[in-house]
Amino acid sequence: MIVIQAKDYDEMSLKAYEAMKIVLTEKPEAVLGLATGSTPIGLYKCMIADYKAGAVSYKNTTSINLDEYVGLPVTHPESYRSFMNRNLFDHIDIKPENTHVPDGLAEDLQKAADEYTAFAAAHPIDVQILGIGANGHIGFNEPGTPFDSHTHVVTLKEGTRRDNARFFDNDISLVPTHAVTLGMQDIMNAKAVILLASGAGKADAVAKMIKGPVSTDCPASILQTHPNVLVVTDEAAGYYLN
Ligand code: GLP
Repeated sequence: MIVIQAKDYDEMSLKAYEAMKIVLTEKPEAVLGLATGSTPIGLYKCMIADYKAGAVSYKNTTSINLDEYVGLPVTHPESYRSFMNRNLFDHIDIKPENTHVPDGLAEDLQKAADEYTAFAAAHPIDVQILGIGANGHIGFNEPGTPFDSHTHVVTLKEGTRRDNARFFDNDISLVPTHAVTLGMQDIMNAKAVILLASGAGKADAVAKMIKGPVSTDCPASILQTHPNVLVVTDEAAGYYLN
């Protein structure tokens, strides 16, 4: 695990992009594992800017997103499909048919989840972008999720819903109660992982991920056992590392 402590959000985003660009340059047909949340938006801005400058192309890439809320129409501004279109896909040359987000509206959610797992297995992720929840979750794999899990439906923890209420008019009752997420094993199958963490609210989770025991109590701690992980924090999120 390599850890970079950037001074602020913009430097964190740029450092993560520099690492990602190596993959994009070496493998134009890379499979990108993508994440939502406030944390990767700066990285996505770097990707868009560099694409607009003509330095990289996404026309041969495939993307596989980590997670999606259950029951939110894809047209809802806070569905993760909408988030990805708005913050990345609409601004680069990735083919819409090559972008994949779990189906949170399927009649049989677990069947759709199993198909998503099979798709990810058939299209191994070259670089997985991750944020981290304040409780150490990755994707929506909450504490206690088995490390050998695949795509599945999760009941969101109250704290996670509270953290995400800011996207839903600060009204926790509007935050979906369930989500579909790639499982821990699917994430660990990625060839490389870039995890970003920003802000004091993540400092404790970052310390547990890097220095704590490998335990399902902090899902991200499993990354200690992955052979190719880059963690990029800003100063506040890296506070307990020194
Ligand atoms: C959300 C997402 C995660 C994300 C995390 C942190 O619940 N499912 O993939 O990493 O929470 O979000 P943020 O970057 O907004 O702090």
